[in-house]
Amino acid sequence: MKATVFVLAAFAPMVLTQSTLCGQYDHFSANGYDFNNNNWGKGSATSGSQCTYVQSTSTSGVGWRTTWAWAGGQDKVKSYAYSGRQIEKKPVSQYKSLQTKTQWSYNNTNIRANVAYDLFTAADVNHDTSSGDYELMVWLGKFGDISPIGKSQGQVNVAGTNWELFYGPNGQMQVYSFVAPNAMTSFNSNLKDFFDYLTKNKAFPASTQNLITYQFGTEPFTGDKTTLSVTQWSAEAS
Ligand SMILES: *[C@@H]1O[C@H](CO)[C@@H](O)[C@H](O)[C@H]1NC(C)=O
Repeated sequence: MKATVFVLAAFAPMVLTQSTLCGQYDHFSANGYDFNNNNWGKGSATSGSQCTYVQSTSTSGVGWRTTWAWAGGQDKVKSYAYSGRQIEKKPVSQYKSLQTKTQWSYNNTNIRANVAYDLFTAADVNHDTSSGDYELMVWLGKFGDISPIGKSQGQVNVAGTNWELFYGPNGQMQVYSFVAPNAMTSFNSNLKDFFDYLTKNKAFPASTQNLITYQFGTEPFTGDKTTLSVTQWSAEAS
């Protein structure tokens, strides 16, 4: 009996967690990737909490998950828990490729939240990384009656998908958000194509705007306890 118990324990499935981030700005870095629980907007909630769990990191990609529940502050973002790629900051025009790949799922989609890339650019290469002169968002998922900053500019085709493009200001920052027609839970694309689209069609100044962040995560507004699992995320910048 004793031996059996020992064998079962040895083969019990293990969920390895490299780091648990529950504080407002708890963060972790490894293998060229950063993670942040980033509960920047939690003050607008009447209740709730969020923790982010880093599960695996290697130079070829990362796995992580974040669990949250937020109530109140209906149209306010509570957080942006993310995985980020550490990059050499330089003008967007000098990147040949911003190839990235992900697989993700939400275990409860009766929520109001997005799943999105967030990239800031700034003329000043030393600009604070919590904002920029421009923000490029690529929404792979949109759950509930939420929408990006600004107004719809209609459908645009980039990297083989018809996205709805939104544009508007957030303070001093100009925000472009490409929203997927349906949740894209598997995604493998070159984000340089989105900057090329903006350069060609929206006069985005790619030769003077430095890429300062390269992140992927989720912006919850409200919802009961739910988990975003990012089984795989990798991002290259060259
Ligand atoms: C989603 O997963 C979390 C734990 O990670 C759990 O607490 C929650 O109940 C799950 N939600 C659903 C709808 O299964």
